[in-house]
Amino acid sequence: MLDKACEYIKNVIEDFKPEIGIILGSGLGDLADEYCEKAISYSEIPGFEASTVSGHKGRLVFAKINDKKVVMMQGRFHFYEGHSIQKVVFPIKVMKKLGVETLIVTNAAGGVNAKFKPSDLMIITDHINHMGVNPLIGPNDDSMGERFPDMSNIYTAEYVELARKISKKLGIDLQEGVYMAFTGPSYETPAEVKMARVIGADAVGMSTVPEAVVASWAKMKVIGLSCICNSAAGVSTVGLSHEDVIQAANVAKEKFKSLVKEIIKEL
Ligand code: HPA
Repeated sequence: MLDKACEYIKNVIEDFKPEIGIILGSGLGDLADEYCEKAISYSEIPGFEASTVSGHKGRLVFAKINDKKVVMMQGRFHFYEGHSIQKVVFPIKVMKKLGVETLIVTNAAGGVNAKFKPSDLMIITDHINHMGVNPLIGPNDDSMGERFPDMSNIYTAEYVELARKISKKLGIDLQEGVYMAFTGPSYETPAEVKMARVIGADAVGMSTVPEAVVASWAKMKVIGLSCICNSAAGVSTVGLSHEDVIQAANVAKEKFKSLVKEIIKEL
């Protein structure tokens, strides 16, 4: 299926060879609209599923940003949609086969660290997989990565430093920390958020970890960026809603885009 998907995509993009992959999270899909040169709906690609979350378009977008060839996922597959974890990470394997060497993975997240405010951006320095499933379970494709891959340095330190430098230059306050993934789709309870904090998380969300694990396994460099859209349950007294999350992502959109564009330039 992987070969079929790549063959289908290559027929459309011809000699365009993306070097950077970007997964655009909730409310952050604008970058793809802005730069789109060629797009393929997920529903057309063998092995892809249609995305079911509102606010997610569901297409692969190919473009040149700051002279770099990129492939963007405008919308991703979430485990909570009912997709198998293999379906969730399938696009990452496709990206690898298309020649992508660096993955920029973005998401909307809840702030666990009390210092974080809605619409803050956070560079991910590490993660905790609390989804109860690992995307590498099953037969190992030795041509892509090893059976027992080291996960000590998923989020390339050099690129964390680069993001710090760029955000300073752009005057963007960049938070940093550990992202912890739950399956969703319900938001966490206050007790779960307290647990997350105690074990070292700064933000919680429902994505990113499966994709980052597979990208790292496949020897891709990974940059993770969270848009902190709300204080996680119990961190503030305000209740949570998907609408508020999207609204906070909207507020952060412009600084998010300028940060990502500048990172791409420097890669
Ligand atoms: N929890 C999990 N996922 C999220 C949150 C949250 O508080 N906000 C945005 N995505």
